[in-house]
Amino acid sequence: SCSHMGGPLSQGAIEDGCVRCPWHGSVFRLQDGWNVRGPATAPQPAFDTRITDGHVEARLLGTEAAGTADPSHDPA
Ligand code: FES
Repeated sequence: SCSHMGGPLSQGAIEDGCVRCPWHGSVFRLQDGWNVRGPATAPQPAFDTRITDGHVEARLLGTEAAGTADPSHDPA
């Protein structure tokens, strides 16, 4: 849900690598959750994901255990 007032981002339009909230139009970058345009003033949480044995695994970005960080991941 949207960091502004809880709008349904899953129903938002996707364009240019961003999702637009259908309630008030805030725009968030899909790569890292950054709020590109308000009225939202806070980003969305972002997750690293992978598919293992047919299951989707997700981990909040920045929560890697010591020594397990993926050196190929560049959140910038
Ligand atoms: S609830 Fe998403 S922009 Fe307001």
